Parts: sequence; C-alpha cells; structure tokens
Amino acid sequence: MEKAFLVTTPIYYVNDFPHIGSAYPTLVADVIARQKRKEGYRVHFSTGTDEHGVKNLQAAKYANKDVRIFTDEVSAKFKATWERLNISFDDFIRTTEPRHTQAVLYFIEKLKDSGHIYQGMYKGLYCIGCEMFKEGSELVEGLCPIHQRKAEYVEEKNWFFRVSAFTDKLKGLIESDAITIEPAGKKAETLGLLKIWINDVSISREHLSWGIPLPFDKEQTIYVWVDALINYLTTIGYPDERYKEFWPNVLHIIGKDILKHHAIIWPALLLAIGLEPPKRIFAHSFFTVEGQKMSKSLGNVITPDELIKKFGVDGARYVLLAEISGDKDNDISWQKFQARYDADLKHNIGNIFSRLLVLAQKNDIKTLPTTNYSLQTNNHQKTFQEEIEKLNIAQALREAQAIFEEINKYLDAAKPWKETDKEKIATTLSESFSAFLDAIDLLEPVLPATAKQVLPIKKGDALIVPKENIHLFS
Ligand code: MSP
Repeated sequence: MEKAFLVTTPIYYVNDFPHIGSAYPTLVADVIARQKRKEGYRVHFSTGTDEHGVKNLQAAKYANKDVRIFTDEVSAKFKATWERLNISFDDFIRTTEPRHTQAVLYFIEKLKDSGHIYQGMYKGLYCIGCEMFKEGSELVEGLCPIHQRKAEYVEEKNWFFRVSAFTDKLKGLIESDAITIEPAGKKAETLGLLKIWINDVSISREHLSWGIPLPFDKEQTIYVWVDALINYLTTIGYPDERYKEFWPNVLHIIGKDILKHHAIIWPALLLAIGLEPPKRIFAHSFFTVEGQKMSKSLGNVITPDELIKKFGVDGARYVLLAEISGDKDNDISWQKFQARYDADLKHNIGNIFSRLLVLAQKNDIKTLPTTNYSLQTNNHQKTFQEEIEKLNIAQALREAQAIFEEINKYLDAAKPWKETDKEKIATTLSESFSAFLDAIDLLEPVLPATAKQVLPIKKGDALIVPKENIHLFS
C-alpha cells in the first residue's frame, strides 16, 4: 500500500484578505503535496480559515457586517485566491463548520478526562493581534512587537491546560527528532523556550460569544488557538477512526511567529489525550517589503492577484518561492520579483524553449528521439530533490536554474544555428530538448501549468516538435 502523508498550512484569520505572506506557506505546502504525489504517496493536503475569536469578530464589526456573513465572504476569498494560484489542496477547512465543532468537542472532553485541565483566574495582558496572553517581558513599551498594538489588561475566569506536565517529555521528543523541528535554528529556539517554560495555557475564554462553547462550562468559549489547532485532526476525519490513516505522519508548514503554538502547545495537547505528536514542523521566515513589515496601515501589502496579473500563475508561484530562504526575514520588492522573473523564467526557461523550437522548425524537424544526453545535469537533479525534501525551495530553484545554464552553455558551444550538418543539428536539439524537458518535469511541483503545456512534447521515446510557436514567460 502507498504511504499516507498529511501536509498542512496554518489556517488563516479572516480579519484580512490573502496577501503574499499567507500565499507563501500555502505554496510551500502545495509544492510538497505535488512532489509527494509524484513520489507515489497518498497525500492529504489541507488548508483553510481560522474564523473564531476576538480578532475576527472585531474585523466584522469594523466592516459593519454580521460576523457569519463576514467570515463567509473572506473565507471564500481565500479559497478562490488559492484556486487562482493553482493550489492543489484536498481540503479547505473552516473552523465554523459543524464537522470541526464536533471534532473540537470530542477532543476537549478527552482533555477534561485526562485530568490535565483546571479552573483558574487569568490576570494579565492579551494581544488581540496574536490572540495570545502575553508576559510583560514579551512586550516593548507596552506594545506587542509583532502587531505594534497595545496589549489589553484582562481579568477573567479561564480553564487552563497543564503544559508544564509535558515539557520534559517534549524536550526528549524534540532533541531526538521524534518531533522534527526545522530549520535547525527553530529546533534550538523551541528547546530554549522549553527550558524556561513554566506557564500553563488557557483553553477557554470568558465573555466571548464568537466561538465554540465549552461543553462543561457554558459561560466559557473554547480559546481560539485550541479550536484552530484541532483543525489538523478534523481534516482527516477525527474523531472517526479514519484519521489514523494519516496521523501522525504530518508535516505542518507554519510561519516563525506561531512556532510555540505548534511545537509546544499542540504536541502537549495531543500527548495529554494519548495521541502521538506531529512528526515534522517547518517554520519559515517572513517577507518584509522594502525593509518594512508588510501591513495594511503602511499600505505596502502585495497580493497574490497582483503578482498573477504581472507574472502569470506559474510566474507568481515561482517568484514567491524563490525569495524566502534561511532563518532571517527576506526583504522583497517589485524590482526583485521582476529581476527574478526576467533572469530565471524569461531569459533561461523562456528563451531556451523558443530557441529549441525555432531551430527545430527552421530545419523542418518534426520529431526527435529522446537521448541519454551528455549534459551534466545529474548532480543538480539530485540536489534539487534533496533541497525540496529539506524544504529549501529557494535553493532547489537555484539547482534547477543551474541545469538551464548548462543547456545554454551546451547550445552556445555547439552553435546549431551555424551548423549545416542536419544530423549534428538533430543530435544537439535532441540532447538539449531532452535535458530541458527533464528539468521542467523536475520543476513540475513549482510550475504545474508550464509542465502541463510542454511535457506532452515527449511521447514515449520521441519528442514531437510543436508546429506552432509557444512562448513561455514572455
Ligand atoms: N490563525 C493563525 C494560525 C492558526 S494555525 C492552527 C494565524 N493566522 S495568520 O493569518 O495570522 O497567519 C498565518 C501565517 O501566515 C503565518 O504563520 C505565516 O506562515 C504567514 N504569514 C503572514 N504574514 C507573513 C509575511 N509577511 N511573510 C511570510 N509569511 C507570513 O496566525
């Protein structure tokens, strides 16, 4: 039987429309889902929207809309945007769906039975932007450094979950990579947090109507983060036994801002109810725009639709995936996207393809044999696969580009446009075309539409040269 593989994105708050920040983890998950399907895994790729809590409620009020209508509208925008970006999700989950409520209620009852929750009083600060309680030490001059907004003082009854009962166990699991946290810096960060972790976390909030009521204390609403994390089980059918097909063979793609929720709180919750923690968590760094945080108030938000308009769907996917690498934030700009598009897609992929096509058509070549070409691309192909597996997508793309550069070098040396010997021309074309198509095949998870367009040129052992002119990334 094929192996099962679950890949997830964060579920996005509906207080804001999709932008390239939310597009990034969605694209990374899409590339991995497509790659794993290619490798023969039975993949379940889930994304969706996180719709409860104060933040979403406030956004609905601000828009002067009923919260249900508002969340329906924004959630639909996310789904449609991901469809336009050619995201191959198997499930788009909304936390307002009945199937999710059912999973959350089941999970919470189990948590109560575990004996790891208790009633208490919370007195302290809360950042609505993060939907998190905050320590004074986490704030800068009273402001949340992530959202640049004032944390509010709250005093309320909450139910708490004893995370502290699991910190030692988690340390062991993370150190031994039973829970693999990547990149390495994020593993170290999590272990650092665990060393000093003393706090228990709230699993419910008082005075909040927009959420799932706590079944054993109707005055309370299930805390939005606990509600949201459970989506990863809802999507695979929990509490129905079906979920066991995929759990815990999961890869959570997340941003660095929500590392502790996924690497500490979520595994602790799962351990408490006797489920296995997630196998793998990958936390990516952020985009900044010309040195600044991307935000509505600064007016520098870039949307996936703007990118699609300028670069086409595959172009938008490519330039986004090429611009985040490493642990540090990655500064982007329209100029950078344009330069990347021109260099990698227009000049490399697009130009090579049209050179090959024009040469074949000029010489009246209709079919060519595929060959075991002499171009040195094996190492790049191998490293590409390894980098994708490690989720270093930008580095993987550099490897793919090295293949196109090899093809360019090969063509420049062979100069088939000056050649008169038809057989030599055919050999050069056959070699470079074969290498080109293999590289596009490799890139298929990143450039699915381009692959769909050009890969049919290869039919069994033959290359059928298209009669018409096809322009890629012009
Ligand atoms: N709803 C929670 C997640 C719950 S998951 C159980 C949430 N939502 S969010 O909409 O605020 O952001 C989710 C993710 O979007 C971040 O973790 C990150 O992956 C991505 N990004 C948001 N802004 C970003 C950038 N500027 N750059 C790159 N990614 C960013 O948190």
